[in-house]
Amino acid sequence: MKSKAKIIGVGAYLPERVLSNHDLEKMVETSDEWIISRTGMKERRLAAQGEFASDMGYEAAKRALDNGKIKAEEIDLILVATGTPDYVFPSTACLIQTNLGAVNAAAMDLQAACSGYIYALSVAKAYIESGMHKNILIVATEKLSSIVDYEDRNTCVLFGDGASACVVSDAKEGYTIENVTLGCDGQQSEILKLPAGGSKRPASIETVQKREHFIYMEGREVFKHAVRRMEEAVKTSMDAAGFKEGEISWMVPHQANLRIINALAKRFKVPSDQVYVTIHKYGNTSSSSIGIALDELLKEKEVKRGERMVLFGFGAGLTWGAASLTCEVDRG
Ligand SMILES: CC(C)(COP(=O)(O)OP(=O)(O)OC[C@H]1O[C@@H](n2cnc3c(N)ncnc32)[C@H](O)[C@@H]1OP(=O)(O)O)[C@@H](O)C(=O)NCCC(=O)NCCS
Repeated sequence: MKSKAKIIGVGAYLPERVLSNHDLEKMVETSDEWIISRTGMKERRLAAQGEFASDMGYEAAKRALDNGKIKAEEIDLILVATGTPDYVFPSTACLIQTNLGAVNAAAMDLQAACSGYIYALSVAKAYIESGMHKNILIVATEKLSSIVDYEDRNTCVLFGDGASACVVSDAKEGYTIENVTLGCDGQQSEILKLPAGGSKRPASIETVQKREHFIYMEGREVFKHAVRRMEEAVKTSMDAAGFKEGEISWMVPHQANLRIINALAKRFKVPSDQVYVTIHKYGNTSSSSIGIALDELLKEKEVKRGERMVLFGFGAGLTWGAASLTCEVDRG
């Protein structure tokens, strides 16, 4: 049997500029205490003015290639998960392809909102295991500050900018992607969206005046679906991978709300020090958040051969997903 696809390298990039809760207190009617108690967030990063999704994605990609000890020319497909592409077209994947000099790669963007990293893992796994591609670069990159309304306290405290990347290959060693489980409920598409800028509401004076080029979210509604859907996805993915409860060394969640993360950790009886959290530092960076957390986890903690991890996320669509990984590499 053909071996399973593996993650062989990871990388991330966070822009330097910090936007703290105290900074936000000066912009909207909010408080550090409210933000921490309701979300777990303390700070988030903002891209520089001339820095776009493709630039941050490029930086994360370079780091993932270095970490995986693989050259840009060896990549045969680039998949970019983003809800904030530089342009609607050409794809951000094409821009990153040329900046990297990945001349042998095909390139495309993938839109699954905050679940983008997990969706991209599933596409990469399928391509690699079918034999169609050998080395796939996944990049998840977001300049959410370009679509956040900094006059809306319901959303502006939640989001930050950043990028992550990984290389998925048909290698012998790495983090084996045992299973990826995906889901979607398009009936809930209205509760989290970017109302204008697409073919339904092209940019006009009216859409600008109505502030429709900013994120719209019914937070309480989204929250209700998030816990239930991610629980189902994690359970299904763990069952398919043959992972039992109590065997998980690390949970790597999408970083949207610490209360959601804690509820899922409790449900699967994973102690809080085995749940990798970055939300206090970076807020919700949408598609890139799981990859940013995975990059930090693999660099800062000792993950040993045989240890099992579950990655999971949830976002607009609604979309959700979970990926079960086994460490099959000795790191030194
Ligand atoms: C957005 C979210 C943090 C809000 O937390 P919540 O506990 O649900 O808060 P509510 O929306 O019920 O709002 C409670 C009150 O706080 C107020 N509030 C909202 N934002 C505030 C802020 N930044 N500062 C102070 N008060 C705020 C609301 O206006 C509301 O006031 P009201 O009761 O007078 O109407 C939470 O719903 C959430 O995380 N949702 C899910 C997000 C998610 O998972 N996204 C995934 C895809 S990205």
